[in-house]
Amino acid sequence: MERVIFATGNEGKMREIRSILADTYTEILSMKEAEIRAEVTEDGKTYEENALIKARAVAEAVSGGIVMADDSGLEIDFLNREPGVYSARYMGENTSYHVKNANLISRLEGVPEEKRTARFVCAIAAVLPDGRELTVRAAIEGRIGYEEKGSNGFGYDPIFYVPELGRTTAELTEEEKNLISHRGKALRLMKEELKKI
Ligand code: IMP
Repeated sequence: MERVIFATGNEGKMREIRSILADTYTEILSMKEAEIRAEVTEDGKTYEENALIKARAVAEAVSGGIVMADDSGLEIDFLNREPGVYSARYMGENTSYHVKNANLISRLEGVPEEKRTARFVCAIAAVLPDGRELTVRAAIEGRIGYEEKGSNGFGYDPIFYVPELGRTTAELTEEEKNLISHRGKALRLMKEELKKI
């Protein structure tokens, strides 16, 4: 079966991508493994635009195979869906997530449980060898907690509470998170879309 190159340098993402795509594709490579370096400016206004920007940049540098890229973020309803597509850059790219999480919690001070709704969103783009492009999007709904909890995962996971599980996504194992996460769902959707063509 065909080769997939995923435009990310993040090893955690690659583990998730490999476990979900392994039954369909024999070769699943990160940019690093494919020895591709591509400079991209993620200046899109939507997750889909940013994912496409990354996938197109890598597709230009390789021949053969499907190139995929993702873009994701956290939307907090009470903050007009901030930080959204700016999630990685919120308060500065180099600011620690401990600081970013504390800031978001303080911006929700006094906000009751039912108004703390939020979601992680993930768009995945694929550029096919013949130039065709596809995008999919998925989300996981949750609530912003009152303090950081858990040490698994990354980024905003310690403040993202999943009501059905009674835990934050930082309190889930990697396997548990992959089953319900925005990225896991989007990857499975993309796999289904690619089967159709
Ligand atoms: P990107 O998709 O790699 O550009 O990253 C988007 C940003 O959204 C990350 O840097 C995190 O801040 C946040 N984010 C996306 N997915 C997750 C997640 O599963 N857990 C925690 N934070 C996330």
